[in-house]
Amino acid sequence: MQTDSIEQIYFSPSGTTKAVVDELSKAFFGQKNEFNLMWDPLDEETVIPSNTLAIVAMPVFSGRIPDLCAQKLAHLKGKNTPAIAVVTYGNEEYDDALLELKTILEGNGFVLLAAGAVVTQHSMFPIVGTDRPDTQDKRALTTFARQCSQKLRAFPEKPLPAIEVKGNFPYREYEIPTLKPTVNDNCTLCGICASVCPVAAIPPDNPKTKDYDLCIGCTACIAVCPEKAQGFHMPEYTEFSTKFAEMNSERKEPEFFM
Ligand SMILES: Cc1cc2nc3c(=O)[nH]c(=O)nc-3n(C[C@H](O)[C@H](O)[C@H](O)COP(=O)(O)O)c2cc1C
Repeated sequence: MQTDSIEQIYFSPSGTTKAVVDELSKAFFGQKNEFNLMWDPLDEETVIPSNTLAIVAMPVFSGRIPDLCAQKLAHLKGKNTPAIAVVTYGNEEYDDALLELKTILEGNGFVLLAAGAVVTQHSMFPIVGTDRPDTQDKRALTTFARQCSQKLRAFPEKPLPAIEVKGNFPYREYEIPTLKPTVNDNCTLCGICASVCPVAAIPPDNPKTKDYDLCIGCTACIAVCPEKAQGFHMPEYTEFSTKFAEMNSERKEPEFFM
């Protein structure tokens, strides 16, 4: 099948999931559209037609896909629409996230061409998986995308075999992290953090504060802050980060399921 368009559907607070989507998309021709779940409310049923390829990529939060994304994806429907499901994770574990994403998509009318779990820089602990996806990861992504493209060409005449991915059901419990970004005196009140926060936890008129009941700890505010005012400034962070890095220093490779 020749697709008319590529729908990129992603959530990417610190930008690495988007980098993975961009890398995969290079292998496909057609008009590229996107649903950026950072800000797109996706609160009404939205159908992706069958002549479109959906590339759906979500970061792993506590071994799951972010709760906010699961809620939004419930409104995204396919009509036998081919899809590639990808989770990105910070070299720790992706646990049940890929199974969860696959289950949501298949339950909503998408057919999976393939799935993948890709290691990226850890957004909470950037000393883990630093600068990933790197050249080696990008090469693996290109090969994977080409394999997907071949499968897509034969679809729907050649039915797609069921894809098995790692993960367990019932899924592990979704946890919002207790470590959440704070603001230090570098803040110039520019408000960029407020403009990117996916849950509107930062008031634009007073970005030095944050509604910690709303904050999901996604790190988008840290990623965009030009002054490095947003960050994990609490004293226990450095010690925790070092321990976390020791436990997760061994390089993991991307895994693909066709
Ligand atoms: C709240 C939160 C929870 C996370 N949980 C995990 C996890 O369970 N396992 C893991 O390997 N990485 C975890 N990470 C790291 C992210 O999955 C990883 O950095 C992801 O690629 C970030 O995507 P982004 O750059 O598009 O924001 C977590 C990050 C955050 C912010």
